[in-house]
Amino acid sequence: MKKVILLMSVFILSTAIAALAVPASKTLSFDKAKMGAVEFSGKVHKTAGFSCKDCHNAEMFPKKKQGSVHITMKQIYAGEQCGACHDGTKAFAAKKSCKRCHVKKK
Ligand code: HEC
Ligand code: HEC
Ligand code: HEC
Repeated sequence: MKKVILLMSVFILSTAIAALAVPASKTLSFDKAKMGAVEFSGKVHKTAGFSCKDCHNAEMFPKKKQGSVHITMKQIYAGEQCGACHDGTKAFAAKKSCKRCHVKKK
């Protein structure tokens, strides 16, 4: 059954890029910044149509393991890591939208 769903998703989404995505249906919480925790939604990024290799490649997030890359704003602003897309062109710009990523708890 899982395989059928997987194949169907591939069929539906495979246009130019073979899509599917992210820690499939998982949400990763990056909570080290005082600005507030960043919830990285697999679902949102899957819906946006990315394939694993769009992020899991040598330049970005080589390992499929949370915490293997130290994410900093310096690199994001330089167009690396999350900033490869969150640059105001492919996705909303990091510099203008802190709170779309950093959410304060309570
Ligand atoms: C939009 C970017 C993006 C896409 C697309 C993406 N991932 Fe990820 N994934 C990440 C990031 C960021 C991490 C955390 C890496 C880190 O902290 O070093 C991660 C982590 C993971 C993890 C580890 C989760 C954990 O709990 O530690 C798995 C498994 C994973 N990805 C699988 C996939 C698979 C399979 C695909 C394709 C179907 C995929 N990812 C597509 C960004 C992405
Ligand atoms: C491969 C491109 C890509 C990468 C890499 C990427 N994103 Fe995204 N992200 C998107 C797109 C596209 C959207 C959909 C919203 C948009 O179009 O601006 C999105 C949406 C989001 C949203 C939803 C915001 C909202 O208001 O709904 C959050 C939060 C987010 N990304 C965080 C991250 C974080 C954190 C990272 C790095 C760990 C990351 N993204 C890496 C492309 C990417
Ligand atoms: C695309 C999502 C995203 C946006 C937008 C974003 N950040 Fe971040 N930020 C992150 C992620 C992911 C981390 C790493 C958190 C962790 O390691 O737990 C981080 C870490 C940080 C840190 C601690 C590490 C460092 O580099 O100093 C600070 C401070 C920070 N962000 C401030 C900001 C401010 C200020 C803005 C808006 C001008 C902003 N962030 C916008 C994703 C984002």
